[in-house]
Amino acid sequence: MTAPAPAPRITVIGTGYLGATHAICMAVLGYDVLGVDVDPGKIERLTAGEVPFFEPGLPELLTKALDSGRLRFTTDPAEAAEFGDVHFICVGTPQLKGSHAADLSHVDSSVEALARHLRRPALVVGKSTVPVGTAARLTELVQRVAPAGKDVQLAWNPEFLREGYAVEDSLRPDRLVFGVASEWAEQRLRAAFAPVIEQGTPVVVTDLPTAELVKVAANSFLATKISYINAMAEVCEATGADVTALATALGHDDRIGARFLKPGLGFGGGCLPKDIRAFTHRAEELGVGQAVAFLREVDGINQRRRARTVDLVRELTGGELEGVRVTTLGAAFKPNSDDIRDAPALDVARTLHRAGARVTVVDPAATENARRAFPELEYGTDAISAATGADVVLLLTEWTQFREIDPHAMGAVVARRRIVDGRHALDPVEWRAAGWEYRALGRP
Ligand code: UDX
Repeated sequence: MTAPAPAPRITVIGTGYLGATHAICMAVLGYDVLGVDVDPGKIERLTAGEVPFFEPGLPELLTKALDSGRLRFTTDPAEAAEFGDVHFICVGTPQLKGSHAADLSHVDSSVEALARHLRRPALVVGKSTVPVGTAARLTELVQRVAPAGKDVQLAWNPEFLREGYAVEDSLRPDRLVFGVASEWAEQRLRAAFAPVIEQGTPVVVTDLPTAELVKVAANSFLATKISYINAMAEVCEATGADVTALATALGHDDRIGARFLKPGLGFGGGCLPKDIRAFTHRAEELGVGQAVAFLREVDGINQRRRARTVDLVRELTGGELEGVRVTTLGAAFKPNSDDIRDAPALDVARTLHRAGARVTVVDPAATENARRAFPELEYGTDAISAATGADVVLLLTEWTQFREIDPHAMGAVVARRRIVDGRHALDPVEWRAAGWEYRALGRP
């Protein structure tokens, strides 16, 4: 048996959503951590104890980590190279403009900037979601550029954290995946996650391409599950069947399971939509496009839910949208988040606006982000005042405060009691009893 390695010093390159969370959680777990970013504004805010995005529980942990003296931030890659034994790459891989491929420019530039200064043995660990084959390419890049040459190794450790549950998912993950090219790299990673492994977390040790694939395979599966139940909603709509009862019945089968089987407006966010597109693109490059051709359909079903939600509004207003006053409850791509990337709610709001409706959006956390991106929409401060005078109300992001709205209280302020429940979050019996016309995708 090898003796337990001493705790490595850790750097986290890229302090966006993934990186900031990882840096803070690693410091809380007891490691000395240096967070690195090219954006001095982000570094200033984090150093001052401010988390630059909405994530429950994270601000408290940032304060705790800073107070412990184990967490610092910098913009200097040379300082990072000097400090760290294990360097986690956590920069973004957004969808490339005008293509389905992933944009790897941040990964390449951050790895290269770090590698230039690596003068002693170190492990560079990719966490970003990348097309399979990237790790092999980066290994070559790092060993060519680093003064320490082949003493610098590369590993892949995909990250599965969900927004809204990022702290829990980081401190108590379902599993750890270590994609490694040597026993040394595996031992370094085991040392970097010792407290998590001691909790009994399963560790899957594999090669680099498999580790890269795990992340996109997991997100593709989740996207497929959501689109599957939404495809069933389309069939329900044509037959008068009820997709919520159908989903409940399917979910009781242990082999299927109820999670990610919630029908409605479908998936959005910074991961699922771009990951399935990048995966399709990469598979085509590799000559196995047919194997994941179904992901195009998964994407198509998901987009149709947005269009169909707009149709439900038209059905309620007799086809006319010009001048119709609409209130949309929700802007974020899901509750407990201020993230509006590919948010289904805002897509629906903008389509209604373009069709001539007067749209007021309300969201507990994402209003500022939404206003910056779509200044043409109007924004309210709370659900009841935003719904005052509305001809149609839509629930598009299932925040708890929207689920708990009293249909009588809201009924008293709207012009017409008409609601589209885009997330199957309300009780139709209760809303209909309060005099509302209630419509939801896939329900009679
Ligand atoms: C996802 C993965 O879950 C996570 O493991 C990965 O690391 C990053 O991508 P996230 O984007 O935070 O996480 O959101 P998630 O909770 O997965 O929800 C994705 C979307 O699916 C949301 O828009 C949500 O509203 C929608 N969704 C989810 C459904 O429409 N139905 C469901 O049953 C579940």
